[in-house]
Amino acid sequence: MTLFSSSMTLRAATPISDAEFKELRDFIYQRSGIWVDEKRKYLFENRFHKRLATLGLKSFDEYVKLLKFDPRSAEEMKTLWEIITTNETSFFRDIKQLESFQKVILGEVLAEQRKKGKLELNIWSAGCSSGEEPYTLAMLISESLGLELPKWKVLISAVDLSPAMIAKAKEATYGDYAFKTTTEEQKKKFFVPEGANFKVKPELARMVSFQQMNLNDDAAVRRVPKSQIVFCRNVIIYFDDAMRTKVARAFYDNLLSGGYLLLGHSETLHKISTAFRPKFIPGAMAYRKD
Ligand SMILES: C[S@@+](CC[C@H](N)C(=O)[O-])C[C@H]1O[C@@H](n2cnc3c(N)ncnc32)[C@H](O)[C@@H]1O
Repeated sequence: MTLFSSSMTLRAATPISDAEFKELRDFIYQRSGIWVDEKRKYLFENRFHKRLATLGLKSFDEYVKLLKFDPRSAEEMKTLWEIITTNETSFFRDIKQLESFQKVILGEVLAEQRKKGKLELNIWSAGCSSGEEPYTLAMLISESLGLELPKWKVLISAVDLSPAMIAKAKEATYGDYAFKTTTEEQKKKFFVPEGANFKVKPELARMVSFQQMNLNDDAAVRRVPKSQIVFCRNVIIYFDDAMRTKVARAFYDNLLSGGYLLLGHSETLHKISTAFRPKFIPGAMAYRKD
């Protein structure tokens, strides 16, 4: 039974030639910086099969032509991003890093702002998926500021390539999957039940502003408000070194001096940028713009 259904799946996938793979791969790379290795050619065959059938296309060649030359291209790009992005995320993901961040980095940045008499905090969550990361940051900030919170102007600019993820993030309502790294205590503290789901409390949701954005779009990236902290976790793993270098420079330019960049636990700026000063915090690394 298993063998039969897997052979059915194989037959169902639309075959992609080496030339078609390269053309689609290069198109995706030029537009988004996302690099798909040759070894993952099968991913294209499996992931695009349904889309090609829906569009009534018989080959990848026809699909690439649609993306490049058809008037429907702009609309199709939105679906393309749904198909190729990996949106895995959850509330309080990588709690060790977040706890160190809250204690060391956030503590320092808030103290600096108080010293300057500027009760403002800007954070950029780049590659925010369906919103769990920026909302988690809003929760940590509200915890750190406590009763001081109403005196502060906090803005978390959260962006992602996927229009569907941004739409979901704006709803701020989540099911069980989003809470796989969340304690019951955190859930009670920061959410209100809504049917079978949970909604982020409005006073927290208010701190976050969502926008669909491609990190490969220089002009859009330059419009992000200057930040004291940039979070870009589990995003640059999908890029090649040229794109990693480009976004590292964009984060550096966006950060105010004394600001910090935080990446995912498996990501590093090693061989990518020497502009930042690495700062070890328990369980993680932060990159400081001096
Ligand atoms: C694995 S998720 C990470 C979500 C969150 N930062 C976390 O660590 O839980 C990666 C996200 O990066 C986004 N992404 C990939 N390439 C992008 C690009 N060029 N511009 C903006 N977002 C991008 C994807 O759409 C996806 O939602």
